[in-house]
Amino acid sequence: MKVLVVGATGDVGSAAAKIAVTKGHSVRALVRSTSNRDKLGEAQDKVEFVEGDILDPGSLERTLEGVEAMIVSIRLTPGEMQKGRTYKDVEEQGVKNLLEAGRKKGVKKIIHVSAAGVGPHCVSDMYRAKHQAEEAIRQSGIDYTIFKPSGMFKDFQFFHIPTVIKLGATNKWPSSPIEFHMNPLSHLDLAQCMVDALTNPKASNKTLEIGGPDCITQGDLLNMIAKEAGINANYTEGVSKEELIARVKSSPQKGFFTAEQLQDFLIDKKIDHSVIQEIFGIRFQTVAEYLKQAVPAVKEAMAKAGQQPAH
Ligand SMILES: NC(=O)c1ccc[n+]([C@@H]2O[C@H](COP(=O)([O-])OP(=O)(O)OC[C@H]3O[C@@H](n4cnc5c(N)ncnc54)[C@H](OP(=O)(O)O)[C@@H]3O)[C@@H](O)[C@H]2O)c1
Repeated sequence: MKVLVVGATGDVGSAAAKIAVTKGHSVRALVRSTSNRDKLGEAQDKVEFVEGDILDPGSLERTLEGVEAMIVSIRLTPGEMQKGRTYKDVEEQGVKNLLEAGRKKGVKKIIHVSAAGVGPHCVSDMYRAKHQAEEAIRQSGIDYTIFKPSGMFKDFQFFHIPTVIKLGATNKWPSSPIEFHMNPLSHLDLAQCMVDALTNPKASNKTLEIGGPDCITQGDLLNMIAKEAGINANYTEGVSKEELIARVKSSPQKGFFTAEQLQDFLIDKKIDHSVIQEIFGIRFQTVAEYLKQAVPAVKEAMAKAGQQPAH
């Protein structure tokens, strides 16, 4: 199948593009002149690159020539924000532009990545844009599979693992509440399901919350990281959602997220993993398996950078 991957230089999109190549699909990637094509590794030689921008409708029709399916895994990156672009521009209008061009060019399938918790009740710019994009896809007339992940392991590597190592023996997580549930998953497993959904009739016209087999709270995750790192910590306390939102409201310039974004994503994100198993039938990586390789790697990298002696 001739597949256009949009976001092929992102974490999820590059994994999907590589898997699509190994499954024998003919992959075209929409990239910008600034995109890091090395994210595709050895698959670069087998991918056709076309330069364009989802906010430039003219570039999309050219890019979609002969394409049967699109895999869309985009987000408002820091680079896009520097250009003055908003969530509504990139994550809503960008997707609408793709749908419009896709309809004109006869695209038959769209695979899209949104997020668990996105819905009509959302109040933030980020989740509203994702919800509008989902709605546009569902109403497009193009066969679709929308994936809504409940957190991804890759984020633990950059934030949770180094922070637990830096905090050492403690019982308090200073960044957020610890009681909300999630079913996190590897972005590689997500990408595998995305590629499978191109041809899997069970995934046709479905909006799927997707997560791994482990339903854990953030406190569970932190304690698992500490144990794997050999740190004598036991997380029993976090910061309440209300307190975090009040902090951001009193000094908005200090917060990484806005009060509305915190309102939307600090929620329980339990997923019924058996639904996903029934459709895709793959074996997902567990949290314990992921941490077993990720925690020593992060410890090693931190020790090398002189941030923390290896335990
Ligand atoms: N991380 C999580 O836990 C999590 C959880 C739930 C959902 N998600 C969602 O999963 C999706 C994929 O995330 P990710 O981490 O793989 O993202 P990422 O690594 O930041 O990749 C984003 C991609 O979007 C492309 N892009 C952005 N603006 C574009 C534009 N105007 N035209 C063309 N391409 C554009 C980027 O291209 P360049 O390389 O050229 O910048 C890049 O390839 C996102 O929608 C995210 O919100 C993530």
